[in-house]
Amino acid sequence: MNFEQLKPQVKSIVSNVEKTIDERLLSICELLENHIEYYNWVGFYFKNGDKEELKLGPYVGAPTDHTIIPFGKGICGQVAVSNENFVVPDVAAQENYITCSITVKSEIVIPIFINGKNIGQIDIDSHVADPFTEADERFLEFVCTEVAKLLS
Ligand code: SME
Repeated sequence: MNFEQLKPQVKSIVSNVEKTIDERLLSICELLENHIEYYNWVGFYFKNGDKEELKLGPYVGAPTDHTIIPFGKGICGQVAVSNENFVVPDVAAQENYITCSITVKSEIVIPIFINGKNIGQIDIDSHVADPFTEADERFLEFVCTEVAKLLS
């Protein structure tokens, strides 16, 4: 299934008021992980209250020890302060990187904004080297805009 086919499915998950917010976020993770073969871990991190740290939200894939990530640490922590997409074609080449699993070769993190404020992010790990293109960025920006609607 391609990105254009997935978009209406993301919208339909977001608008399903019969599910809780966390259930809908998990469904988005499952949709993406199931339909895009190089998305092998898909999850959300959100700013943890007033703290300068991220807290793990719903995700699919291997369990991670990194349920709390301080701002500035790792790819996720850097996106929390830069407010910019971060595409990592080769995680081994990154100095400020938090390893979750040795099977991960690449990663993409896209911030989620509500009223211009960076409130969290979607994080995707891949077992494939250098798989992410601008099409992934545009699609995941769409997903993050939909998630922002869900949370605001
Ligand atoms: N690799 C991330 C940590 C989160 S895991 O990928 C689930 C990072 O460097 O921030």
